[in-house]
Amino acid sequence: MNHFQRKRGELCCEDVPLSELAEEVGTPAYVYSQATLLRHARVFKSALRGLDILACFAVKSAPNLALLSLFAKEGFGFDIVSGGELFRALEAGGEAKKMVFSGVGKREDELQAALQAGILQFNCESEEELHQLSRAAVRRRSLAEVALRVNPDVDAKTHPYIATALASSKFGVPAARARKAYRLAASLPGLKIAGVACHIGSQIREVKPFVEAAGKLRELVLSLRADGHAIHRLDMGGGLGVPYGDGDAPASPQEYGEALVRALDGLDVKVLLEPGRLLVANAGVLLSRVLLRKEGQRRRQFVVVDAGMNDLLRPALYQAHHEIEPVGRPRRGAEIVDVVGPVCESADVLAKRRRLPPLHSGDLLVLRTAGAYGMAMASQYNARPRPAEVLVQGRSWRIIRARETYKDLIRGEST
Ligand code: LLP
Repeated sequence: MNHFQRKRGELCCEDVPLSELAEEVGTPAYVYSQATLLRHARVFKSALRGLDILACFAVKSAPNLALLSLFAKEGFGFDIVSGGELFRALEAGGEAKKMVFSGVGKREDELQAALQAGILQFNCESEEELHQLSRAAVRRRSLAEVALRVNPDVDAKTHPYIATALASSKFGVPAARARKAYRLAASLPGLKIAGVACHIGSQIREVKPFVEAAGKLRELVLSLRADGHAIHRLDMGGGLGVPYGDGDAPASPQEYGEALVRALDGLDVKVLLEPGRLLVANAGVLLSRVLLRKEGQRRRQFVVVDAGMNDLLRPALYQAHHEIEPVGRPRRGAEIVDVVGPVCESADVLAKRRRLPPLHSGDLLVLRTAGAYGMAMASQYNARPRPAEVLVQGRSWRIIRARETYKDLIRGEST
């Protein structure tokens, strides 16, 4: 359910016509619906009400301060993966005591900043990182609460670039080595063991891999407790998928919630979750304008738009599908076109051989489900200033990130 609907033929975000935003803010622009975002946040929490949870929004999926601040006000904590994300989450009003620090490599200054802020938990991914964190904590005469991210070796059946729990993955500590790694953690002076963590991948459509991972971690929690460790938190990561409109609808938050409640029943842990995509993907679109039409070889039809792979990388990087719709009332008829950006790369294709109503130069269109990992992964490649971001609430809207200027492109550079 999202709040991008047609009113009198024209696509709106909540009660604001997208054409109005294009006039005022220009294109390309990311547009978010606050009502959608809050709805998703509440649906997620209520789907898991059978467990004692702390939901930590994955900052990497949509790091804009205004969006983070909405989640903070909804009581969410944050899953951070860098010093920069820690800074963002704190600036947005996030509570350090609700933050977990994930990631396979953390710099000394990042560890120090997180210790100084007093975050809830560090999710460590290797024995060497345990040593590094312990040293950092001892230097500050503090104790770091730690969970080991364990790789449960389950197949999340998602795109290989976003599957993280296969045996070949760089993430986590192999389950077979976990007990030994916990013995090490217990012996280090700067660490206090608090829990176990995992994250099996992203855009996962079925509940089964989550259930499998939860089952394996449940066993691990019990054996670690038998080894004498006080395990009172279990971080199940993020990863539940969203419908991108390519036919394969993922499990609902309710099904996911029920499955987790069943799998973790009676384990007596605080369950941490790190949802990203699920909360924001459908709450955002990328608004763009058609620059021109051109015909390629063998009459292939190209629609060239003013958003490119630097603005939305997902199609180029993962062959991801984003639904495309004209903002104005769709013209009659349909044609098969490639929607491409202006970037000088063959990979700069936003949609290949897509059936769309006829689109002409000057038309506005949206790429849907772009709220997660859209602006987050945007770059200035080809010296293209990154898009503006707009947050809509009912009939009102505000710019939550100004469009970059040419001056922004050269900030910090010298000749
Ligand atoms: N926790 C950890 C440790 C993660 O690595 C991630 C995502 C999440 C939570 C949030 O996962 P989510 O609920 O959003 O699936 N750029 C890719 C997705 C990369 C995901 C990376 N990790 C994409 O655009 O599909």
